[in-house]
Amino acid sequence: MITIKHKIQEKYDRIAFAYDLFIGLIDISIRTPRLELFKGLHGRILDVAGGTGANLQYIPAHCQITAIDLSEKMLDVYQVKAKKEERTVKTLIMDAEELRFPDESFDGIVETNALCTLPNPVTALKEMNRVCRPGGDIILIDHGCSSISQLRFWQNRLANCWLRISYCHLNREPIELVKAADLTIRKNSRQLAGIFSMIHATKSN
Ligand SMILES: C[S@@+](CC[C@H](N)C(=O)[O-])C[C@H]1O[C@@H](n2cnc3c(N)ncnc32)[C@H](O)[C@@H]1O
Repeated sequence: MITIKHKIQEKYDRIAFAYDLFIGLIDISIRTPRLELFKGLHGRILDVAGGTGANLQYIPAHCQITAIDLSEKMLDVYQVKAKKEERTVKTLIMDAEELRFPDESFDGIVETNALCTLPNPVTALKEMNRVCRPGGDIILIDHGCSSISQLRFWQNRLANCWLRISYCHLNREPIELVKAADLTIRKNSRQLAGIFSMIHATKSN
């Protein structure tokens, strides 16, 4: 049976070669707060749904990175990037909702632009919490509804159509998902007309 996860994986396998052209525009617009959010990371870092490695340039060089994703082709691009930057990254094909790591195996977790696509984002956030060591950082950057009402109106209007085309929920609210997963929220700032939530959380007990 073809599940939604198969469809997501196939879609990202198909677009992996061009993904960075699209994500680069977003990256430029939130570069400074992103650098600020990532700068305190250290030790063993898990990049959840890491895709083509958009986070690689932000994760400090002294960290040991493991990146997981459903799409092998996205992770292939991640590896090419890592080699270019002379960094070692362990990439594994894995479902973010069923992480195959023991409890508390990472010092920090990063996840960007994937809560919109994960079929069960709260389950994935609980998994991130489980594999993070006590006091470890959980850094999340995700898009949701704008704080500008006209923009929000169009996001809600287009949400169903966009979901069918891209498997991406335009109007999920990241901070509500983080609260539902019971993570401890340290900081949440909004960027780019309030569309991007930049969340610094820590493991809850
Ligand atoms: C929009 S991309 C974001 C990639 C990267 N984190 C970034 O910021 O550019 C979403 C990624 O989530 C991955 N993905 C979707 N569902 C997943 C799941 N259940 N487990 C692991 N990865 C998943 C997709 O394959 C894709 O690479």
